[in-house]
Order: sequence, then structure tokens, then C-alpha cells
Amino acid sequence: MRVLGIETSCDETAASVVALEGDAAPKILSNIVLSQIEEHAAFGGVVPEIAARAHVEALDGIVEAALADSGVALADIDAIAATAGPGLVGGLIVGLMTAKAIAAAAGKPLIAVNHLEGHALTARLTDSLEFPYLLLLVSGGHTQILAVRGVGDYQRWATTIDDALGEAFDKTAKMLGLPYPGGPNVEKAALSGNASRFAFPRPMKGSAQSDFSFSGLKTAVRQAATAIEPLSDQDVADICASFQAAVADALADRVSRALARFRKTFPGTKNPALVVAGGVAANRAIKATLERLCTENGFTFVAPPLKLCTDNAAMIAWAGIERLREGMAQENGFDFVPRSRW
Ligand code: KG4
Ligand code: ZN
Repeated sequence: MRVLGIETSCDETAASVVALEGDAAPKILSNIVLSQIEEHAAFGGVVPEIAARAHVEALDGIVEAALADSGVALADIDAIAATAGPGLVGGLIVGLMTAKAIAAAAGKPLIAVNHLEGHALTARLTDSLEFPYLLLLVSGGHTQILAVRGVGDYQRWATTIDDALGEAFDKTAKMLGLPYPGGPNVEKAALSGNASRFAFPRPMKGSAQSDFSFSGLKTAVRQAATAIEPLSDQDVADICASFQAAVADALADRVSRALARFRKTFPGTKNPALVVAGGVAANRAIKATLERLCTENGFTFVAPPLKLCTDNAAMIAWAGIERLREGMAQENGFDFVPRSRW
């Protein structure tokens, strides 16, 4: 099985070819990701209209390059899979319509893929993970814990009631005058900071509810930052370190609840695993916290390579293969329209 995947739901234009032959491990034959970061940097965040136009300009060439890199001719591709939601609707329209056009012209099936399903199934592409497992998705747009039970069989156990975690990093960076995207810059500044200088809140910690919340933490950061005028580099570093410590602590509380719930829900699971995905999974302090938590609770910690944790089209092609294999390719086909809040 060879599937061409297309991803355009946010600010990455991506195309990839993934192959699965017999019992062998799946192979990523090509994986091209064009980031639009520079086009949005001046605005401090992704501008939907700019993103959609940039996708239109780039996608043809990216698809062509992904096919050329893979060494597979379009005629030998079994299906075209494209992200159909959730995401920015302009980008979704560009990606899905391009995929439909290619599929129609080449006489191939079209598989509309949910972006979150792409993230959820990536650990089966990289680590051949068996169902069920737990997924922590922490990106600029999503903060969720999912119980992944099978292809198309997901239970959302937690979500954010306000900001996504990556968004909290980006807003914190903006308040402190650090460049976009904020996450990597906050992490870098935190390295030389004192994490105990500011006692920031740990939102939801100890709550019987399972959800996340980050807006209170953001407000606390703003209050700390505006109380000091002007901010020195050391002040910025201390705020970043204290913010990151609060985030790690809050995450650990929420995730440990989910690990316990997983044990209760799936008592027969031999090797329970926690998978992380999303750009925030790049953060070393957060990764270390999650790794420790897994060790303490007898879970395997799975962190796919960063390139496959952040937005990419290999995960979309792979989700297409999983759906083809399960006979689910017809479920969301040519009639499917982009759904920004899918
Ligand atoms: O998954 P991703 O590349 O794109 C989507 O949002 O879908 O995630 C981007 C988010 C941004 O908010 C960025 O600031 C955050 O991930 N991020 C980080 C780090 N690297 C990226 N947050 C914390 N620490 C990092 N090292
Ligand atoms: Zn994503």
C-alpha cells in the first residue's frame, strides 16, 4: 500500500508518501514540510488569510517534490489522503480540493483525514505501538488527552477549557518581548532562570475534573511582568523558568490522573504506553517530567521524532493507510467537505 498524504490545516504546507509492504515496518518514502513561520512572524501569530494564500502558492510544488523524492509514480499510488479538519478553513479547502483533483484525475480513492487522528496514529508508524494507548497532544491549537482504542476509535478524556498549551507559551513570549514562535524561546530563556522566584498558579491541580486550563497562569505571568519595569534579561529568564515549572507541574497532575484512569479502564493492557505529540513535546523540561511520571507508574514513554510529532503529512498518509487496511477508506471520501471544527 502506498499513500500520498497532504497537510495544510495550519501554517505548514506538507506532502509525503508512506508505504506498507506485507508484514514489514511501514516506510516513509518522502516527507516534505514547508513552514510559513517567516510569513507570520511579523504578526506574532498565524494569519489565516496569509496562510491560505501561501498554501495555494506552495502546494503543487510540494506534492510534486514528495512524489519525486519517494520514487513512486502517481500511477502506483493506492490512495490520496488529505487533512479535512480541524484547522483554518482556507488552508483545509486548498489541501482537500487539491487532493480531490489529483485523486479524480488519476482515478484513485480520496481519504479525508482528521488531523487529530493523524497525530493519534503516528506512534504506530514510528514505534509499531499496539492499541490501546494514551495520547497527550500538546500543540499551538490543541491540548488533549485521548484514549486511543483503535483506528477511528478515540475517547477524549481531557481538553483545555481555555488556551492551548502552545498558545500559553506563545502569549507568554509575546508579553516578555521574545520572538515568535514563543515556545522554543521561552525554553531557551528558562535555562538561565530561577524557577522558584515567582510562585505561579498550577491551574486545575488536584481538581476532580480532568480538563486543562492555562489562562489563569497567563494572567499571573502578565501581572508579574507588568509589576517590574523595565524587565531585565534576568527577570525574563526567571519568569520563563517559573512559568515552565508551573506548566510542568500542572501537566504532571493532569497526566497522572489519566494514567490511573487508563489502568482502571484497560486493566488487561500488558505494556501501557503514553505517547506525546505536538510542538510543545519538543520542550525538554516537559519531556523529562512526563518521562519520570511514566517510570513511576509503569508506563512506557513514547516520544516519536520531533519531525513527526509536529505537523507533517507522513502522519496523514499513515492514517490513510490505517483506514485503507481496515476497509474504512470509503467512510470519508469525495463528498467530504472541509470542517474547521471537526
Ligand atoms: O504542533 P505544532 O508545531 O503546530 C500546531 O500548533 O499544530 O506546535 C506549535 C506550538 C507553538 O505554540 C510553539 O510555541 C510550541 O508548539 N513549541 C514549544 C516548543 N517548541 C514549539 N513549546 C514549548 N517548548 C518548546 N521547545
Ligand atoms: Zn497538529
